[in-house]
Amino acid sequence: MKRLIPTLKGDGVSIEFIMLIRTVLAATKEIAFRVSQGELSGILGSTLDENIQGETQKKLDVLSNQLIKDMLLADDQVRAIASEEEDNVVVGTQGAPYIVAFDPLDGSSNIDINGQIGTIFTIYPARDDVPADSPLQFQQPGKNQLCAGYVLYGPATMLVMTTGGPTRCYTLDLTHGGFLLTQEELSVPTDTKEFAINMANSRFWADETTQYVNDLIQGEEGPLGKRYNMRWNAAMVGDIHRVLTRGGIFMYPNDNRDPKKPAKLRLLYEANPMAMLIENAGGKAYANKQRILDIMPDELHQRVPVQMGSANEVETCISYYD
Ligand code: AHG
Ligand code: MN
Ligand code: MN
Ligand code: MN
Repeated sequence: MKRLIPTLKGDGVSIEFIMLIRTVLAATKEIAFRVSQGELSGILGSTLDENIQGETQKKLDVLSNQLIKDMLLADDQVRAIASEEEDNVVVGTQGAPYIVAFDPLDGSSNIDINGQIGTIFTIYPARDDVPADSPLQFQQPGKNQLCAGYVLYGPATMLVMTTGGPTRCYTLDLTHGGFLLTQEELSVPTDTKEFAINMANSRFWADETTQYVNDLIQGEEGPLGKRYNMRWNAAMVGDIHRVLTRGGIFMYPNDNRDPKKPAKLRLLYEANPMAMLIENAGGKAYANKQRILDIMPDELHQRVPVQMGSANEVETCISYYD
């Protein structure tokens, strides 16, 4: 079975870039170990702090952020980093070629219930036309991403990553501590009978979303003519991993719960890396009518609606937003 580095070399990835990916993965292995120890490693529960998004930070949000940040700042390939748990851009090595954004711990509400959680990351080229500490470093559309991936801390710890070619899947081998290639090329089935959305928000949805989901749950008698099943992990990593494995549509649409935050998921370190992984596996990823990877961000922690997964189902879904 192939290891990570020979696979990346085969994909034509440079040694410096492989080393940077290894830095990110070294931090995730440390997180994976602590997660596997649960209560024994003292990582469960909340802190007394909030992040810039107004969410209470869990101990593991803070610890994961610190581990990834410290390791990236010690890597001389990194000019700047952005994280869900950092208010502003953090500066790394002057003149370094890359910038990295990450969601250190996705699915925070699953930490204390021993549910699926993960880390999402993305790497872009650094911009020479703006200062290293400027949020403008990250003002690049998702199609500029050089690498996108996540590590899912599930029953097995898995890495799903693309460096521009296929979306590949690796499994952490605990016997020697390395990620081994376990699926050469993920391919999202074009059609599906499975959808993922938080139905508890339905009274806050826009009419287009309500109409589409009503049609989904009407089954064979409805206009879509199929019986669908529903799944919701409360962790985007878990839901997207299922979609990448067996197809489906994942949605977190706009809603009017809080007029200041019509969308929930963040473009930079949630929607964009997942969109690249899905597209490179043959799926589609939209924010209503717009391809996610084409969106030009205007804020570091910008939020976007998300519809992604099996190509035909995503097309059907977004046709409701005409
Ligand atoms: P995070 O834990 O990084 O803040 O992200 C949580 C996100 C995402 O992973 C998930 O799809 C969604 O929030 C779950 O939202 P609900 O609480 O509405 O289920
Ligand atoms: Mn959060
Ligand atoms: Mn998240
Ligand atoms: Mn998070």
